[in-house]
Amino acid sequence: MKLSYLLFLLLELLPQSSSVDVPSSVTTYAPIPTSAAGPPVPNSLGYRLQSFGDGSYMVTDGVYQGLFFVSCEGVIVVDAPPTIGENIIRAIRTVTDLPVSHVVYSHSHADHIGAAYLLGDPSSVTFVAHQLTAEALALAPDYGHRPAPTLTFETSYTLEVCNQTLQLDYNGPNHEPGNIFIFATVQKLLMLVDIIYPGWIPFNSLGEVQNVPGFVKAHEQILEYDFDYYIGGHLNRAGTRQDVLIQQEYIQDLYNACVSALEMSAEQGNASNALSVSVLLPPVEKANPGNSWAVFRAYLDALAEYAANVTIDKWVDKLAGTDVFALSNANVMLESVRIDWGVLGPYGVSE
Ligand SMILES: *[C@@H]1O[C@H](CO)[C@@H](O)[C@H](O)[C@H]1NC(C)=O
Ligand SMILES: *[C@@H]1O[C@H](CO)[C@@H](O)[C@H](O)[C@H]1NC(C)=O
Ligand SMILES: *[C@@H]1O[C@H](CO)[C@@H](O)[C@H](O)[C@H]1NC(C)=O
Ligand SMILES: [Zn+2]
Repeated sequence: MKLSYLLFLLLELLPQSSSVDVPSSVTTYAPIPTSAAGPPVPNSLGYRLQSFGDGSYMVTDGVYQGLFFVSCEGVIVVDAPPTIGENIIRAIRTVTDLPVSHVVYSHSHADHIGAAYLLGDPSSVTFVAHQLTAEALALAPDYGHRPAPTLTFETSYTLEVCNQTLQLDYNGPNHEPGNIFIFATVQKLLMLVDIIYPGWIPFNSLGEVQNVPGFVKAHEQILEYDFDYYIGGHLNRAGTRQDVLIQQEYIQDLYNACVSALEMSAEQGNASNALSVSVLLPPVEKANPGNSWAVFRAYLDALAEYAANVTIDKWVDKLAGTDVFALSNANVMLESVRIDWGVLGPYGVSE
């Protein structure tokens, strides 16, 4: 009997360590660094409530985060992620019987505010958002899950409700036009959603970013606020200034790697440079005559893979999920470096 067959039998006969069969196609990624974790979400509740003092609270299910502020008249809720859903009300009721008076939308996306209708309707609740968020909601209405804002603003608005003050600032487009900075001045708590992911690499496609230069600039804008706690809308724990600085460094590294890839792709007459268009593209052109998209895709894929590799090498032990979304983030940054920043590599002004 062959040794390989014996090994096969042995593996088949060994008891499985887990009762769930994991298909072999499931990728195993690098372990999560401890710096990414937060306090556990109690299984019995499905949510964790964290106080930041003076009547301010975060509710999280471990993946999404919302906030609420208890004033002496009513409760201000900021965002209503559907995955937390009814637990937002349950969490509020553990600390106060006051009614919800205001709901603030950080931005228009359904995964952050799609449970807003559970908190009341415009007869009892003021729905506050940026004007561009109101416009986005009007373009893609969703059967009342995200009630239309009843109080909108364009640059800044100070929401004062009895003893609570929220400074709402629009600092330009980033993740989405209309995404606002929400600063609780007494508690020194800043919320800006889908930008910083404390302890983690940004989600898919730089957090589904719509304006990459605005996203990059947002890191500096955040640091101009005098905050002690940062709420990013995702994952488990609150962030700190340090988390913002760390992500800023990752983003700078990603930007630099994309610029290097574009410069390398423009190099001529170096057969050992696999990113050079003169090395990379002739075989693709030969296999796909006349197919410009096939050629351009091969180009973008190779450069993004290079930038992903460079950032994974440096960041995989520092930020959770680096190897999960590094390539997706590199795809988005590479295109932005080309078309927003104008680093066109071999596709610049023709002579
Ligand atoms: C405002 O009043 C509420 C209710 O009395 C209290 O829980 C909260 O700590 C107060 N917050 C501030 C900033 O004074
Ligand atoms: C050719 O490309 C390789 C790979 O990018 C690089 O290491 C090498 O320095 C390049 N050679 C010259 C002469 O530039
Ligand atoms: C990226 O890393 C993978 C795995 O090490 C390697 O197979 C691939 O050739 C690298 N790609 C580039 C463009 O450097
Ligand atoms: Zn979003």
